[in-house]
Amino acid sequence: MASAAAIDWASAEGLDLSHFWMPFTNNRFFKANPRLFVSAKDMHFTTADGRQVLDATSGLWCVNAGHGREAITEAIREAAGVLDFGPTFQLGHPLPFRLASELAAMMPAGLDRVFFTNSGSESADTALKMALAYHHAKGDSTRFRLIGRQRGYHGTNFGGMSVGGIGGNRRRYVSQVWGVDHLAHTHGDAVRFQRGLQPGNGGLAEELEELVALHGPETIAAVIVEPVAGSTGVLVPPQGYLQALRDITRKHGILLIFDEVITGFGRVGDAATAAEVFGVTPDIVTLAKGLTNATVPMGAVVASREVHDTIVNGSPAGIEFFHGYTYSGHPLASAAGLAALALYRQEGLFARTTALAPVWEEAMHGLRDCPNVIDIRNVGLVAGIELAPRDGAIGARAMEAFHRAFDAGLLIRVTGDIIALSPPLIVSEAQIGEIADKLRTVLHETA
Ligand SMILES: Cc1ncc(COP(=O)(O)O)c(C=O)c1O
Repeated sequence: MASAAAIDWASAEGLDLSHFWMPFTNNRFFKANPRLFVSAKDMHFTTADGRQVLDATSGLWCVNAGHGREAITEAIREAAGVLDFGPTFQLGHPLPFRLASELAAMMPAGLDRVFFTNSGSESADTALKMALAYHHAKGDSTRFRLIGRQRGYHGTNFGGMSVGGIGGNRRRYVSQVWGVDHLAHTHGDAVRFQRGLQPGNGGLAEELEELVALHGPETIAAVIVEPVAGSTGVLVPPQGYLQALRDITRKHGILLIFDEVITGFGRVGDAATAAEVFGVTPDIVTLAKGLTNATVPMGAVVASREVHDTIVNGSPAGIEFFHGYTYSGHPLASAAGLAALALYRQEGLFARTTALAPVWEEAMHGLRDCPNVIDIRNVGLVAGIELAPRDGAIGARAMEAFHRAFDAGLLIRVTGDIIALSPPLIVSEAQIGEIADKLRTVLHETA
């Protein structure tokens, strides 16, 4: 076995591809046609064969400040040399307390109690358990139902998968959390090539009233939605939709959870949360990805004072919220988070999203006349470009575009036949132009 010291970090020489069972990957295809990155800096990855690839997806929607940011890597190095690990069960160390304070200051007013996880999936499941614990602490134990949304994505753990609305994720794993129901998704075929939020709510949120009437408000613990659904292809909500969900949940004593794993940290506008950009405050926000600029795995669940105090003050003596992870508030992740938040602040990166959004919108909608493009939607520094599926081969056209783009030096992301784009917030106007130009060529080549 190679010792770490003997590893050439930027080389793929002599690599055995057989042992790593890759996530969400066609393993057989990849291992026959490997596409490997060996390093990254700012807006670019470098491939194993030495090519530069422009990152139009912030990795997996997560490298919001761009790659290889020295302030963050330096903080990780330093923290590792001081405290490699410190338990946070019944003991503590300063870094997660510092990070929680910084994070609380960036959240919508009233949301300032922070629970740390290691991923978006863990954040989703933590938030759902928090909602159940809240009602339990209030003596409202009949509130066990969780309402998600079709085409929602809340990660891969059982709770998130159950409230999520992706058939492929759910059908394979028959066992689901019991008592879950779903709202309709927010993407209507009637509205195509919409710039920004869709017009009018169209009664979509009011469907929640029907679910409340069906199940009884006294059985529903929480509603969880992404403010903008990302992983299922950038589904931008209608105007007023999130506020209507807020009004209905409040009316019935149901908690509202925004899954901001993608939409957090400046992705949709000049704020740390989409909640603030859209002016709607939920009871709980889930975060991950951009929290550490993706350098060290970390997620967070930020609860309102009311949710926190109800659980903490309303529980019998002892552990109030019987939940946690070995690595909740890990020193390296906390250090990375502190450095990432400082960088976002110092470089005004969230404001950059708002400043660049019109340029981005123009560039993306300029692809409307490309072959097979049937819809384009955008918000902040996010865009979804939907292609017509090939007969009997859903996803094949977009996957071909993905491979062609990679070979042409552009990293895009595809989900079904939708190309989802979300560049780091440091992207320049020239690079936005380059993304659009490269994509135009790729779309013309992809029959
Ligand atoms: C909205 C949302 N929630 C949860 C997750 C899961 O995050 P992770 O892959 O870190 O578990 C994702 C991942 O893309 C996501 O987009």
